[in-house]
Amino acid sequence: MNQLKNFIKKYFSNFAFFYRYLGNRIFLAFLLSIMVSFLDGLGLSMFFPLLQVVGGGGDSLGIGDSGNLKYLIDGIQSLGIPLTLGSVLILMIVFFAFKGIAFYLSYVYRIILQQSFIRKLRIDLLNGLGRLSFKKFILTDAGRIQHVITGSIDGLATAFSAYFTAFEQILMLTVYIGFAFFLDPKFALLVCVGGGLVNLLYRIIYKKTTVASYKLTNFSNIFQGQVIQYVNHFKYLKATGKEPDYAERLKDTIYKIEDSRKRMGVLSSISGAAREPLMVGIIVLIIFIQIQFLKGNLATMLISLLFFYRGLGSLVAFQQSWNTFLQVSGALSNVTGLQEILRENKETNGKIRLEQFDKKITIEKVNFDYDDVRVLKDIDLEIRKNESIAFVGESGSGKTTIINLIAGLLPVSNGSLKVDDFSMAELNRKSFQNRIGYVSQDAVIFNDTIFNNVTFWAKKTDENLRKFEKAISRSALKEFINELADKEETQLGNNGINLSGGQKQRISIARELFKDIDLLILDEATSALDSETEKVIQQSIEELQGKYTLLIVAHRLSTIRNVDRVVLMDKGSIVDIAGFEELMQRNERFRRMIELQEL
Ligand SMILES: Nc1ncnc2c1ncn2[C@@H]1O[C@H](COP(=O)(O)OP(=O)(O)OP(=O)(O)O)[C@@H](O)[C@H]1O
Ligand SMILES: [Mg+2]
Repeated sequence: MNQLKNFIKKYFSNFAFFYRYLGNRIFLAFLLSIMVSFLDGLGLSMFFPLLQVVGGGGDSLGIGDSGNLKYLIDGIQSLGIPLTLGSVLILMIVFFAFKGIAFYLSYVYRIILQQSFIRKLRIDLLNGLGRLSFKKFILTDAGRIQHVITGSIDGLATAFSAYFTAFEQILMLTVYIGFAFFLDPKFALLVCVGGGLVNLLYRIIYKKTTVASYKLTNFSNIFQGQVIQYVNHFKYLKATGKEPDYAERLKDTIYKIEDSRKRMGVLSSISGAAREPLMVGIIVLIIFIQIQFLKGNLATMLISLLFFYRGLGSLVAFQQSWNTFLQVSGALSNVTGLQEILRENKETNGKIRLEQFDKKITIEKVNFDYDDVRVLKDIDLEIRKNESIAFVGESGSGKTTIINLIAGLLPVSNGSLKVDDFSMAELNRKSFQNRIGYVSQDAVIFNDTIFNNVTFWAKKTDENLRKFEKAISRSALKEFINELADKEETQLGNNGINLSGGQKQRISIARELFKDIDLLILDEATSALDSETEKVIQQSIEELQGKYTLLIVAHRLSTIRNVDRVVLMDKGSIVDIAGFEELMQRNERFRRMIELQEL
C-alpha cells in the first residue's frame, strides 16, 4: 500500500502540479494523442486486407490466418464497404488523413496548454511574491527569487513539454501494444519484455541526470544572486580594485554550472547513441524469435513489426522526453520550492479597510524579534494625527525597525499596535499603506521618465500636471528639471544611474509629495543632500507639519528642530520623549549629541 502511495507520489506529483494549473484540459490533450495513435493503428491494419486482396481473396501469398484482425475486416464489410483493392487503399488514405488532422490538433492544443500553463504560473508566482511577508523577504535569498521567476520558469516550459510528450508517448505505446495484443498476444508479450529491458538500462541514466539537474539549478540560483550583487556593487568593486576578486567567485560558479551541464550532455549523448543499436538489436531478436520459435507467418509478422516499430518509436520518444524532463526537473522543484515558501509565509491580512487615517497610532508594550534576537523592547508610544515626530538614537538603536512596524511592514512580536483603534492585524494593511508615503535612505528610482517616476505613471491631465509642479517645487527639483533638454520627460537610467545621490532622494521625496497621503515617513531621506538643498526641503517639510502625520529619522539634528516631539532611542528601547528644546534641557545624552554635531 505504501509502495503504491510512493509510486503515485513519485510519478504523479508532477502530474498533480500540472493538473492544478490546467484542469481537465489535460485529458483532452491526451485524448487527442490517443486518437493519433489509434488512427495510425487502423491505417496500418489495412495492410492485412490489402495483402489479402492482392492475393486474390484466398491465401495464395501464404499470408495465413488473419487472427483477430478478421473482426476489423468483418466490421468494415458490415458497414457495406466491399473489400476491393480500391476501397482498401482509400480507407488507408482516409485513416492516415484523419491521423494527420488529429496530429495537428493535438500539437496545436498542446502549445495552447503550454502557454496557458506558463502564464498562469508566472502570475501565480507574482501574486505570491506580492503577498510574501516583508520579514520573510528580508531573510530570503533575492537571487533565488529572481532566478525562479525569470530563469526557472523558462525551464519549466521545457519541463511541461517534455513531461507531456513522455506521457503521450506512453499512451501511444499502450495503444500500439493494444493493437499488437489484438493481432497476436504472444508477440505483444515480446514487445513488453523488450521494452522492459531497455527501460532498465535507461533508469541508470535517469538517476544520474536527475542528480546533475538539481546541482545545475542550485548553482544557477547562486550565480543569479552573485550577478545581482556584482551589478549592484559594481561601483564599489571598481573603485576598490576588488572587481577581479569578486569576479573569481562568479567564475567558480560558472565552472560548476558548466560541469553539471556537461555531465548532463554526456548522459544525454549516451542515451541518444545507444538508442538506435538497441532498437535494431531488439527488432532482430524479435524477428529471430518470430521465425525460429513461433513459426509466425509473413503477414502477421509484417504488420506486427509495423506496430512493434511504432511502439518502439514511442518508447524511445518517451525515454528521450523523460530524460529531457529530468534535465529540467531541477527547475520544477525550484519553482515548487519557492511556491511553498510563498505559501507558508503569506502575509496575513485583516478585513477592516481604513479609507483614511483619522485619530492616532497607539503602540503599547511592543517587542520585536528577528528569530531569537530582540530588536525592540517594551515600546510605548502614541502618535496623534498630524503630529510630527522625530526618532533619534545611535545606529542600530531600532529607529528603522519601529517605523517599519508602524508602516505595517513588520508584525509586532508581542504587545499591541493600533491604528485608529484597530489593531494592525485586523486591518486590511494595503488600505492603510495607501495612506503612507515612505522615503528611505536608498532612493527608489524606476527606469523611466522623471514624470513617471514622480507620478507613478499617472496620466498627464491638467490636474496631475499641477500636482506634479507642486511636488517638484516642494522637493527643490524645479530648477534641475528646467535645465534638462527633455524636462520632465528625461529618462532616468536603471536605478537612476545618471542622477546624483541628492537628486535621487529629491525625486523620491517628490513622489511621496505627489500622492494623497496622511502619513509621511522620512527615514534618512535627506542624508545625501547638501545643507543648502536640505534647507529648501526642510522648509517644505515644515510647511507639511500639521497637515500630515510626519515620522522623521534624521542624523542631522538641525533638521528636526521644529518637530512636535523627539523620541530618543537606545538599544531597542525608547529612553525619552519630549519636544526638542525640552529634551535638550533635560536629557544629557541628547544634549551631547547636539553638541557633537555643532562642532
Ligand atoms: N534581518 C535582521 N536580522 C537580525 N537582526 C536585524 C535584522 N535587521 C536589523 N537587525 C537588527 O535590528 C537592530 C535595529 O536596526 P534598525 O535598522 O532599526 O536600526 P536603526 O536605528 O535604523 O539604525 P541606522 O541609524 O543605522 O539606520 C540592529 O541592531 C540590527 O542589528
Ligand atoms: Mg535605519
